[in-house]
Amino acid sequence: MTKCQQLDRLYAEMESLAGTLPLTKQPTDIIPGEGNTEARVLLIGEAPGYHEHQQRRPFVGRSGQLLRTVLEEAGTSVASVYISNIVKARPPENRDPTPAEIAAYKPYLDQEIEILSPQLVVTLGRFSMAKFLPKVKISAVHGNTHRVTWNDQTLYVLPQYHPAAALRGTRVMEAFKADIAKIPAVLSWIQTAPAQKRE
Ligand code: URA
Repeated sequence: MTKCQQLDRLYAEMESLAGTLPLTKQPTDIIPGEGNTEARVLLIGEAPGYHEHQQRRPFVGRSGQLLRTVLEEAGTSVASVYISNIVKARPPENRDPTPAEIAAYKPYLDQEIEILSPQLVVTLGRFSMAKFLPKVKISAVHGNTHRVTWNDQTLYVLPQYHPAAALRGTRVMEAFKADIAKIPAVLSWIQTAPAQKRE
């Protein structure tokens, strides 16, 4: 089975559990990840918002437009990456996802990562960062690449601020743009020095 077929099967399984999975009543409440299934880079956000729920696509609202624009401007084509979320359905009033919601969607995100097998995971915001780097503060580590062992495989994780936070303040916006601009160099570095740790 191709990665695309495996992902389709995964999303169909989640849709079949609508009503059981948190924040869902019907299959269309599940917002699948999207992008290049051969991507070396997987970006993981928090949870879909209103526009993502309407269009059933991740990161298509205001923060998604910022993310997509900054990626392109900084030399990473949106068509080359895969984009998904920690929680695959919309929390009401765009509140933070709860630990129980994150836990319920964890097996599906884990399978998504297994299938895609990315070299670099870019976490957007503290919730997705905490999946790989549980004890750190985003203000201290954003923009630094971390080598982590995850499910017995080596993954490089580049934590970043969430684009919604960037929209709220100039300082975070500058950091967000600078961190996104690091992706091409981090990918080249991973290619040439996979065994070293980079902080
Ligand atoms: N914010 C997220 O974290 N994910 C989305 O898909 C949209 C906004």
